[in-house]
Amino acid sequence: MPGTDVLDHRPAANLAASPARTAVPCRLLMCRPQFFEVSYSINPWMDPAKPVDTELALVQWERLRETYQSLGHTVEVIDPLPGLPDMVYAANGATVFEGKVLGARFRHLERTAEGPAYLQWFARNGFTDILWPEHVNEGAGDYLRAGGTILAGTGFRTDPRSHAEAQEFFGLPVVGLTLTNPRHYHLDTALSVLSPDEIMYYPQAFTPGSQAVLRSMFPDAILASDQDAAVFGLNAFSDGRNVLLPEAATGLIGQLLDRGFNPLGMDLAELLKGGGSVKCCTLELQGT
Ligand code: ARG
Repeated sequence: MPGTDVLDHRPAANLAASPARTAVPCRLLMCRPQFFEVSYSINPWMDPAKPVDTELALVQWERLRETYQSLGHTVEVIDPLPGLPDMVYAANGATVFEGKVLGARFRHLERTAEGPAYLQWFARNGFTDILWPEHVNEGAGDYLRAGGTILAGTGFRTDPRSHAEAQEFFGLPVVGLTLTNPRHYHLDTALSVLSPDEIMYYPQAFTPGSQAVLRSMFPDAILASDQDAAVFGLNAFSDGRNVLLPEAATGLIGQLLDRGFNPLGMDLAELLKGGGSVKCCTLELQGT
């Protein structure tokens, strides 16, 4: 019976809108922020002078994991490694579509060891179709699946040459999108896929050409305001019904309710100090 979610806090007036939306059970990979800190800066959110409360980060992360589990999703965990504080952002560890794993090759030296660490997890956990990539790509931070199409970010991290590599490996068409705003350096900080044919995004994070592509592919998309984009509201995870996103993105929460989604606001303030939130902490193992 729909509406049995323990986490459904919506006012009664919105309940009528949701039964049309069905949640798809997902298998997710996450990494505890046990060694999380901001000791270097590779994006404008990261200020090593600002203190980080690792204990609080763990509590916030744990709540995210429990929320996924209470919604019926399966959460796998990879052991964090000391000296890799950004490993908590599991979305960057690889890209997994239809059970095939494209490894990540990081742009910055500080994160390069994460690529092999994640690939080892896949090799040890029964994944056999794994590609160690030739070109720089930051995993599902820049590769998002929308139905039969892969939306692929570039501009800051993922090399555009990786887009052809991904298309060949997955056998799915790749649409390249160029990011221009350094605060939205990965595609998953500027765009979120809500269902196979629905997205929400922040147009100003993209070049005019990429904005035109998004308008033509998704004319009915939810557009994020400056305020919602500034609190990382687009760094969201959707199972087709429930949308987990930063709780400060109140405008997007309202727009999602209007469309019959069940938005669940999360507090990941400590992890935002590293430039990541809900989606960055979550790698979807699609097709497994
Ligand atoms: N500090 C990390 C970096 O700059 C944050 C990664 C966020 N991940 C994401 N999928 N957007 O690389």
